[in-house]
Amino acid sequence: MDRVQPGHHTVRGRQRQWTGDNVSNILKEPKVDNRECLLMASPDNIASARAHSNIAFIKYWGNRNHKLRLPANSSLSMNLADLHTTTTVEWSSALTVDSLAINGSPAGETALVRVRQHLDALRRRLNTDLRARVDSTNNFPMGAGIASSASAFAALTLAAVTACGTALDERELSTMARLGSGSAARSIPPGFVEWRAGDSHESSYAETFADRDRWDLVDVIAIVSRRHKRIGSSAGHRTADSSVLQPARVESAETRLRAVKIAISERDFERFARTVEEDSNLMHAVMMTSNPPLFYWQPLSLAIMESVRHWRESDALQVCYTLDAGPNVHCICRASDAPAVAAKLRAISPEIDIVQSRVGGGATVIPVPVSYRARLRVS
Ligand code: PMV
Repeated sequence: MDRVQPGHHTVRGRQRQWTGDNVSNILKEPKVDNRECLLMASPDNIASARAHSNIAFIKYWGNRNHKLRLPANSSLSMNLADLHTTTTVEWSSALTVDSLAINGSPAGETALVRVRQHLDALRRRLNTDLRARVDSTNNFPMGAGIASSASAFAALTLAAVTACGTALDERELSTMARLGSGSAARSIPPGFVEWRAGDSHESSYAETFADRDRWDLVDVIAIVSRRHKRIGSSAGHRTADSSVLQPARVESAETRLRAVKIAISERDFERFARTVEEDSNLMHAVMMTSNPPLFYWQPLSLAIMESVRHWRESDALQVCYTLDAGPNVHCICRASDAPAVAAKLRAISPEIDIVQSRVGGGATVIPVPVSYRARLRVS
């Protein structure tokens, strides 16, 4: 295949390296010359992007509009530098159907259907009817119970848009990523990110609230179970309104959001810990009181949650917990306390595996990985 080598393209006689940094500059400057973006973006309808997973401090649970994934409340998260998805998208007139490979193997039907739906939304926006070959790789083990939909749909959105030779600004990339998975909206901008609930497709997007160097937080994830969750978050969002507690959670979310923003701005760990734990507990209270009830906590999750509080109150470790739609416990702590937190988690049970991450950047375009081209040559 005689494709243009990714990474270097000549733009108005200058050699420009096509890196994530170039693209984040484009995203920061919506007024950039679009002809230049087109030249940098996609000489042969193929592009790769990388996006990080994120962990929410103020949770998104329940939608006002399920189809558009307009959330019931605004949320706030930090990107996870060390957990990411790399996705390559190739639009081609030679394809008759979209295809999807995850970690080098053809994806199952459920994942494929969801990605096709997202590609349909992107096709509408990009005004194309080409089909796409999508190749996606996570740097964290599948089935480790670490959610990959946020990083996956953020990377897919950026790669698909770039491969089409289009440059959307950060806000619109975030709204488009949201259509694939709500939390993916938060994996587009870098650092500590707020997703404003909004009340329309255009007004529901995420943006950086604070840069990643604002606070040296680390997420020490205690992997309690590697089993795939029976009820995923898309189905869970639909049950949220059946809980009598959901209106109270949603009504008070704004107050907690304000508190977490103040805590991050002032690096006030006590306020941060109280609010983050309360918000996680409230979301799980809604889950447990929905119809059908969703119980994601396991005995070991509870034991860890209790220990984390004890380490904070009695051992003066700056650590708190938060859990998504699964039993794994995200222990958010100061970087200096991360080794002690990891050691204490290991001491609770040999069954606990640990994955750690610092605060991460936003979604970026990267050169097409050599492994992608090598895979194409053999297939
Ligand atoms: O983006 P989804 O549909 O996978 O929903 C994510 C929901 C939680 O992870 C439980 C909370 C959040 O805000 O990330």
